[in-house]
Amino acid sequence: MKREIFEFFASLVERSSGISIATGKEYLLESRLDELAKSLGYRDHEQLYQVARTRLTRQLLDQIVDALTTNETYFFRDQHPFEALRKVVIPELVKKRQAERRLRFWSAACSTGQEPYSLAILLREYFPDLVSSWRIEILASDISESALEKARKGVYNQIEVNRGLPVSFLVKYFKQVGAHWEISEEIKRMVTFRKINLIEPLRVGPFEVILCRYVLIYFAQAMKKRVWDNLCRVLTPGGYLFLGATEIPPHLPPDMEKKILGKTICFRKKD
Ligand SMILES: C[S@@+](CC[C@H](N)C(=O)[O-])C[C@H]1O[C@@H](n2cnc3c(N)ncnc32)[C@H](O)[C@@H]1O
Repeated sequence: MKREIFEFFASLVERSSGISIATGKEYLLESRLDELAKSLGYRDHEQLYQVARTRLTRQLLDQIVDALTTNETYFFRDQHPFEALRKVVIPELVKKRQAERRLRFWSAACSTGQEPYSLAILLREYFPDLVSSWRIEILASDISESALEKARKGVYNQIEVNRGLPVSFLVKYFKQVGAHWEISEEIKRMVTFRKINLIEPLRVGPFEVILCRYVLIYFAQAMKKRVWDNLCRVLTPGGYLFLGATEIPPHLPPDMEKKILGKTICFRKKD
């Protein structure tokens, strides 16, 4: 890929999504942009470049960003955070919110939906009274429209349901449709999907729990810090924020504390 084309797309994507594409990833950029170019009726990424450079529309920009996101995810990813939610976080929040009887969760880069649906399944399975008599809100958002479209459908193939989902949950919360599995209405209803770009000012919240896992790793340090600060801001006092297992926050603001819950590390906003 020509240097000038790489720099154009890398800079465009970083400015509009925070995703930082390092040099050395030219091949990745080229193959994804070739694919997008073909799907839009262009010859290849070079022709797409000419179009993007001279007449970039909002729609085309969204399609380019979408093509360059990494949507890797699976049900109950890493397991331990979900155990921490079940054993410590949710019971603690339930005690705290007896008066309001309301809990708000946010899966802040939900990709194709496995993360918020895992949370909804966990709540329905282990906290049925809460689901039936409290206001339980699960907001799930992502920048990728195509990932959100799949998430809203809630239909997964055999390989996807084999990744992380216990068979008992598959049988209980999904119905088989041909070669695919569709999540049940009762779980789907619990989750609201919205397109939210994390680098823009956040107009949501506050939340008792935020999952923002495996997304800040794609951002450069300054952007990571900005998004992290914004996430901490929309957390309620006593609320919990989870990053991916391998992720380290850029810094710990004075009102946040690090918590080790079983085999997971998370971050709690002080009361
Ligand atoms: C690797 S997936 C992680 C999905 C899920 N959180 C998990 O841990 O399994 C990263 C997601 O971050 C999303 N993403 C990247 N930049 C974003 C941004 N600026 N705002 C919102 N979502 C973004 C991508 O579209 C992708 O779906």
